[in-house]
Amino acid sequence: MAFDIDMIKEVYSNMTERVDAARDIVGKPLTLSEKILYAHLWDGKPTKPFTRGKDYVDFAPDRVACQDATAQMALLQFMQAGKPKVAVPTTVHCDHLIQAKEGAATDLKHANNTSSEVFNFLESVSNKYGIGFWKPGAGIIHQVVLENYAFPGGMMIGTDSHTVNAGGLGMVAIGVGGADAVDVMAGMAWELKFPKLIGVRLTGKLSGWTAPKDVILKVAEILTVKGGTGAIVEYFGPGATSMSCTGKGTICNMGAEIGATTSTFGYDDSMERYLRATDRADVADEANKIREYLTADAEVYANPEQYFDQVIDINLSELSPLLNGPFTPDLSTPAGKEMTEKATANDWPLEVEWGLIGSCTNSSYEDLSRASSIAQQALDKGLKTKAEFGINPGSEQVRYTADRDGILEVFEKLDAKIFTNACGPCIGQWARYSDPKNAPKNSIVHSFNRNFAKRADGNPNTHAFVASPEMVAAVAIAGRLDFNPMTDKLINENGEEVMLDEPTGWELPPKGFEVKENGYLEPVADGSDVEVTVKSDSERLQLLTPFEPIGDSVTGAKLLIKAFGKCTTDHISMAGPWLRFRGHLDNIANNTLIGAVNAFNKKTNFVKNQLTGEYGGVPDTQRVYKKNGIWSVVVGDHNYGEGSSREHAAMQPRHLGVAAVIVKSFARIHETNLKKQGMLGLTFANEADYDLIQEDDTFNFLDLNEFAPDKQLHVEVVHADGSKDVIALNHTYNDAQIQWYKEGSALNLIKKQNA
Ligand code: F3S
Repeated sequence: MAFDIDMIKEVYSNMTERVDAARDIVGKPLTLSEKILYAHLWDGKPTKPFTRGKDYVDFAPDRVACQDATAQMALLQFMQAGKPKVAVPTTVHCDHLIQAKEGAATDLKHANNTSSEVFNFLESVSNKYGIGFWKPGAGIIHQVVLENYAFPGGMMIGTDSHTVNAGGLGMVAIGVGGADAVDVMAGMAWELKFPKLIGVRLTGKLSGWTAPKDVILKVAEILTVKGGTGAIVEYFGPGATSMSCTGKGTICNMGAEIGATTSTFGYDDSMERYLRATDRADVADEANKIREYLTADAEVYANPEQYFDQVIDINLSELSPLLNGPFTPDLSTPAGKEMTEKATANDWPLEVEWGLIGSCTNSSYEDLSRASSIAQQALDKGLKTKAEFGINPGSEQVRYTADRDGILEVFEKLDAKIFTNACGPCIGQWARYSDPKNAPKNSIVHSFNRNFAKRADGNPNTHAFVASPEMVAAVAIAGRLDFNPMTDKLINENGEEVMLDEPTGWELPPKGFEVKENGYLEPVADGSDVEVTVKSDSERLQLLTPFEPIGDSVTGAKLLIKAFGKCTTDHISMAGPWLRFRGHLDNIANNTLIGAVNAFNKKTNFVKNQLTGEYGGVPDTQRVYKKNGIWSVVVGDHNYGEGSSREHAAMQPRHLGVAAVIVKSFARIHETNLKKQGMLGLTFANEADYDLIQEDDTFNFLDLNEFAPDKQLHVEVVHADGSKDVIALNHTYNDAQIQWYKEGSALNLIKKQNA
């Protein structure tokens, strides 16, 4: 659906009335986050205040965005809902299924060959149901959304955890699973626990080598990967208004790495400049009319401690460039000496083999121009780059404009590979090795957001460090992880010592944005005649059949795996080569939990089959239980399911017959996804009970027939020697979510209500 100014006018007209009502009801000044939330209540004008971190609230988001990997399952589910059209403006973006190998032209052609079935499916479903379709090569979802659809004060959801990027334009934009997107596309309310609020006061000003990326790398260090869980992070202060809109997008984008529900900034001049530069002067004009509603009340930012649940202070003038990693985005190290020490102590390779710039996080015109100012110096000062460069522009508009302005040429002169405007190396779609599993230990530095093991290239020995695009350029030129461009000299081809000057760049293209073919397809007005075909023997796509309810009698369930340590959605449903099966539930189920570490032998994909006593892969073992009509249980540690919003991580275990996932704590999106699929997502009331679980355990749920909100459940765990433990389990299901469980899934309930 094309960009719709009338929809925005309506949102703004509701906003003034609803925010005023909310302020009266809450009885105090409002943060920006609260204003946007209260302005988007499903029931319209607020009539009661909500308790942060406790109340489940129904919202009415303005938009939905889906990327190709998650859209397949979301749209397969939407097709089941029995609706002729999507109820809110929705777009689909083809960005994940494109490998990075040779360079854009060859790689895009290859993707169009290998994934044409999926792209055609997405295009035809989009056309049929009134969804805007962005073709492969058009750009990465979040950059395209920022350039075309995000607007201050709006609320959107997207089937990708970095949907939060749109906070850079003052939205509350939240990553969800496909099942949540289906609710909104089907015209239903979307439910969220009213978030807590973290305020980040930014003082000072970025200068020299520091960049917006360093702000979020610092916040990640302070809050860690769990610190933002259940909260909206709202940035404010003079440091916030001094940054560009796309810089704000970078900061919000990586809010996903601290587990935050989303992040946002108040409307300011940088957003107005960006809206006008991206051909949306009409939105800027409308936003200017209600400016005070698109930021917090003045009193909130004057005394933030009174209005936020937590306040963090960062002085941008004191910030230095950081490299976060390896293997986790919250492990921060300043460039230079401290990195030398840490890398030596931890045996991280100091030599850097690749510098990758781009992804949805840092692929704006400003990012590319600042990084190219460093790359240009390598040419001017006779430096030979030590590491290789790879560039992923965020959109065709950015790529075309950067190409026109000679920015890409600078990188090309350094033999950089300009990959497709797509995710590529950020999602394991980087064909770097023929045999990644046995590839050598090495370090890379990139301006992406995630750096879990194997995330970029499938090589478990790749140590990936996250930094700003300008630092990536500098480190790649120097070829050393501990290079500090502020103090260190490099030797050029003439044997002379040279230093790199501070980066320079343009917030927005001086000659304006330009694009020839942006890759957008508007759906037909009436899609009722559009045919969508899914071949019955397709490897890539499979029509869904509804899940049967698990019911209130789950006994004799076997332990499938007790996961040890970090278990992200990448561990539960790996990306990389598996991306090709995202639209085929049975095929992709063959990767279920193959990345999770078995607590009993510390191996991956090696669990005991309790029926045979033999060890085997997790999916194979589970299929044996399923064949024998036996439910199973997955046990996990803290923050289980952190990472992406993919509901496959819930649908696959569900499809294979896992009844319950019992963990110390959940990442929010994954917990919701389990609920949506009609499964039991439960937490140990006493965390130490995790230690009671043994390899041969059988689980008998004792009181599922009394499943009710705020009421513990209990499971009897029978050990191999016949001894038993009864374990108390907490849950966060409300009445509606218990109904999903009873019906077999949220989708089953929608269908029933539409019948
Ligand atoms: Fe794509 Fe990586 Fe962003 S997978 S959407 S570029 S986080």
